[in-house]
Amino acid sequence: MKYIFLQCLVAMILNVTCSTSVLADAKDDAARHLASKSGCFVCHAIEPGAPGLDGKLPVGPAWKAVAARYKGDASAARKLTTAVMGGTSPYIRHWKDETSGNAMPPNSVTLSEADAAKLVTWILGLR
Ligand code: HEC
Repeated sequence: MKYIFLQCLVAMILNVTCSTSVLADAKDDAARHLASKSGCFVCHAIEPGAPGLDGKLPVGPAWKAVAARYKGDASAARKLTTAVMGGTSPYIRHWKDETSGNAMPPNSVTLSEADAAKLVTWILGLR
């Protein structure tokens, strides 16, 4: 939060617009690295429109689509951190018709809860 504030402050001093893109940078190397080493990119892309394994639907939803869907949902960070850690249910598919994966497996094997929360915060800020 402090970092975002500082970025905005710098933007104001330089007299450039502090756009929402400052909130989460898709190129954020630390976040990308964490996602990459945690295996997220096997199933997810950041940008929508990337084809999946069958050349059609992607396995998991694009993260910019996730950010758009949960925009304004105050409980999203908590819900999605739980989903990332514990996985999702194939019986309650949130991304039915948009993804080929039936469910996300638990990521708690490769990820601490703090890192899951960090990734989710980054994902939700993507525009
Ligand atoms: C084996 C494939 C796979 C991997 C690996 C994977 N995911 Fe997913 N993810 C999915 C699928 C499939 C869904 C859609 C689930 C649904 O439709 O309910 C999903 C959904 C999500 C969602 C949205 C959940 C919702 O309820 O809307 C987030 C956020 C997410 N994944 C983040 C991550 C992160 C972060 C990682 C890495 C730590 C990760 N995923 C790794 C397959 C995967």
